[in-house]
Amino acid sequence: MDYESNGWIWEGVYYYPHVFGGVMVTAALLGLSTSYFAGIGVPLPLPCSWSNLRIFRKKKSSKRRIRVYMDGCFDLMHYGHANALRQAKALGDELVVGLVSDEEILANKGPPVLSMEERLALVSGLKWVDEVITDAPYAITEEFLNRLFREYKIDYVIHGDDPCLLPDGTDAYAAAKKAGRYKQIKRTEGVSSTDIVGRIMSSLRDPKTCEDRNGTDEKCQEVNQSKSSHISQFLPTSRRIVQFSDGKAPGPNARVVYIDGAFDLFHAGHVEILKRARELGDFLLVGIHSDETVSEHRGNHYPIMHLHERSLSVLACRHVDEVIIGAPWQITKDMVTTFNISAVVHGTVAENSLHSESDPYEVPKSMGIFHLLESPKDITTTSVAQRIMANHEAYVKRNAKKSQSEKRYYEEKKYVSGE
Ligand SMILES: *[C@@H]1O[C@H](CO)[C@@H](O)[C@H](O)[C@H]1NC(C)=O
Ligand SMILES: *[C@@H]1O[C@H](CO)[C@@H](O)[C@H](O)[C@H]1NC(C)=O
Ligand SMILES: *[C@@H]1O[C@H](CO)[C@@H](O)[C@H](O)[C@H]1NC(C)=O
Repeated sequence: MDYESNGWIWEGVYYYPHVFGGVMVTAALLGLSTSYFAGIGVPLPLPCSWSNLRIFRKKKSSKRRIRVYMDGCFDLMHYGHANALRQAKALGDELVVGLVSDEEILANKGPPVLSMEERLALVSGLKWVDEVITDAPYAITEEFLNRLFREYKIDYVIHGDDPCLLPDGTDAYAAAKKAGRYKQIKRTEGVSSTDIVGRIMSSLRDPKTCEDRNGTDEKCQEVNQSKSSHISQFLPTSRRIVQFSDGKAPGPNARVVYIDGAFDLFHAGHVEILKRARELGDFLLVGIHSDETVSEHRGNHYPIMHLHERSLSVLACRHVDEVIIGAPWQITKDMVTTFNISAVVHGTVAENSLHSESDPYEVPKSMGIFHLLESPKDITTTSVAQRIMANHEAYVKRNAKKSQSEKRYYEEKKYVSGE
């Protein structure tokens, strides 16, 4: 879909919704918290202030906005989910996401890795998401479809090109299709939660044995080999990166804030720290460490997601304006000058580093532009990975079953046009 049909004219000025992408969000995302979970659609702060929004809506009453709906568990959310939601958003003006409840996931797939609160933070953090409904059923029912159409004013239900069958073998979206309110998007190549769980399990089987990065160690070789069986099928293209980015430079006199890290297994803690960092300025530049840098400082079994995957996850976050793909460990004076960085921030909760010989923030500290930000959550990549390890048995079973159907998907996969 081109931007023409997304934009609209208001008092002689042509507005593109994406112009506002990345502009500061006013309400606290997690302030929306658990009290909203009782099945109420959570209206998200759109990337412009509420007062603006109201003006826009009033002036724009002549043309109703198309509301599209897409659901999912979004457990262990990855850029494949983000890309699906990006495509869904392009089929309408407002994207409503249905998040499957913890209870429904437990009943249908086994225990979720991430809690509803964390999954909500991740999904709401995506720049394409306008609203979240937190009690979506695991398999869409006709009754729920009707609720979507009536209560939530949904125009189209969106789903990927993989078939979705109800327990009785019928097509879950038959009713929506019959009503002419179903649209399909292309499934993102090369990544799935199952694949990520597999990567975590094979690389973290025994983290301690590999911590010294000694590749000659026997156990490490085993880890290496099993890791290679989980090599990502994702091939990053320049177009995908363009689709995910805003393509905006900082405005004149903008205060550029810089934050760096691995952003491995992008989680709710990342969303929160990025939000706080963005609040310190007008433009958030995120430095993403290269795979080699991450391995060097965290051990051979990291990162779990490679550089381009991690970059896409960060770019999909509404608080982020730009990323450096493969940022240096050490922040130099030259970097600060090149990007006109006004503040360098770092969270109080971070992964342990294997080496502590030099302080990567020495330069910004000496320039007086370094800020330590209280991390709002104590979740880390390691803690997410450990939750998966703790549920090992359940996941092995669940994974074996899902891997089979995914293998089939790839074997039978055909070219599907679309973005
Ligand atoms: C790496 O492994 C080799 C052979 O197993 C051993 O001699 C060496 O001490 C190890 N290095 C470290 C840093 O553990
Ligand atoms: C394991 O990884 C290390 C470091 O990445 C590498 O040097 C070594 O050759 C690998 N071993 C095998 C068996 O692939
Ligand atoms: C550099 O950043 C400062 C804010 O820290 C801003 O006042 C200044 O205008 C920026 N410079 C340029 C050339 O944009």
